[in-house]
Amino acid sequence: MILGVQREEMRLLAEVGHSSKKMNPRTIGRVFVGAVREADAWGSFFVTHVPGRIGIFGRRLYFRAKLGHLGPRLYSEVGVDIRGWAGVKLDASVFLFRGCMLSAEAGKCSIGDGSAVGRHAIIDGSGGEIQIGRNVMIAGNVVVRASNHRFADSGRPMQLQGHEPGRIIIEDDVWIGANATIVANVTIREHSIVAAGAVVTHDVEPWSVVGGVPARILKRRPH
Ligand SMILES: CC(C)(COP(=O)(O)OP(=O)(O)OC[C@H]1O[C@@H](n2cnc3c(N)ncnc32)[C@H](O)[C@@H]1OP(=O)(O)O)[C@@H](O)C(=O)NCCC(=O)NCCS
Repeated sequence: MILGVQREEMRLLAEVGHSSKKMNPRTIGRVFVGAVREADAWGSFFVTHVPGRIGIFGRRLYFRAKLGHLGPRLYSEVGVDIRGWAGVKLDASVFLFRGCMLSAEAGKCSIGDGSAVGRHAIIDGSGGEIQIGRNVMIAGNVVVRASNHRFADSGRPMQLQGHEPGRIIIEDDVWIGANATIVANVTIREHSIVAAGAVVTHDVEPWSVVGGVPARILKRRPH
């Protein structure tokens, strides 16, 4: 999708460059939409890079205007990257640490009360759905990706085959260690732990600790 948008923008720029004297109303309309998008990109970049308390407060206001839903107490550090704003829903007291990415282009991504997304973690619900419950801790560099590239057609590059939608559910009180990856169509049940570096390819039972590639049960939490 991102590649598609870039190609369209490059085509428009070439069109404007070569035939500025003969631009028809359709082209003017598309250039206008492109200019609005450009202004939006600069605005988002500015707001997401203002440091200190002013930045945290400013982002609260800006995110409230753009997100599908935002609870009253968002804490977000600089460099947070959000794509597909309308599909992103953040409950009360969500913590977004420096450089993390939330994406819900043609998809959904919701995060529950008290949950935190660590530095440079990627929560990508685009083309699918990610539901994160309450009091979930997601450490730095974790990747949660709800859909996969299609690859069944051997005669075409995978880049042109689109995506297979999927869903990831992370229930309440889960801790996901640094650098773990959660692939599509997995449910991580409540009170469980995903060890650092794990690749989770199957559902995780409640109160369990899983680790490794692919992730297997290491032990169970007493309860
Ligand atoms: C999962 C974790 C919490 C387990 O801690 P623990 O209860 O002290 O576990 P133990 O040291 O008793 O290890 C139990 C077994 O799991 C294995 N194990 C532990 N962590 C592992 C990991 N990340 N990947 C694979 N196996 C792991 C141990 O080698 C041990 O196996 P063994 O019995 O064959 O020797 C911890 O190892 C971990 O990964 N923490 C995440 C740290 C992190 O990412 N922090 C980021 C900031 S929040």
